[in-house]
Amino acid sequence: MLKDIEKIYYSEAQLKEIVQRLGAEISEDYKGKNLLLVSVLKGSVIFMADLMREIKVPCAIDFMCVSSYANKTESSGVVKIVKDLDINLEGYDVLIVEDILDSGKTLSYIKKILESRKPKSMKICTLLDKPERRVVDDVWADYSGAEVPDEFVVGYGLDYDEKYRNLPFIGVLKREVYEK
Ligand code: IMP
Ligand code: MG
Repeated sequence: MLKDIEKIYYSEAQLKEIVQRLGAEISEDYKGKNLLLVSVLKGSVIFMADLMREIKVPCAIDFMCVSSYANKTESSGVVKIVKDLDINLEGYDVLIVEDILDSGKTLSYIKKILESRKPKSMKICTLLDKPERRVVDDVWADYSGAEVPDEFVVGYGLDYDEKYRNLPFIGVLKREVYEK
């Protein structure tokens, strides 16, 4: 698995620092609110598990699973809900927890659906942001861990063809792996 990695962008220690900073910001901003963390599966699962333990105010959690990919490295914009939330969003300050904000098509779709369910507020927290790749104008990261250039990254929950999610760091996948 390691032989497929070109370089490491964020080590385990750096990711821990990033998640601690985000947790501290969120804990401050959501004092006295009714926080619900919505994890977008599967990519955000490790980030979610670490982030929620850095949040020092009460929060509820829920999970939704969407699939959006036409091919293995590019978003299609056609998003399907594979697993919906269990919790009714009314009265909640929803914070969507995502692994990476790329074209933004996936979150644009999720945001519209969740907004129609009338949460008290809704914001987005993403571990990684690829701002160069954005094609929608209604989605931005209210909380962002780190920016990455236009390269395909894996690890810490992020996959290529369902693999590499269990790497403890974020690294760039060698082009030969997905161009062959
Ligand atoms: P978007 O709809 O183009 O913003 O795609 C968002 C989703 O694509 C993310 O939640 C990831 O699952 C996936 N994705 C985008 N870029 C990468 C990447 O570099 N590595 C792994 N998955 C990615
Ligand atoms: Mg994802």
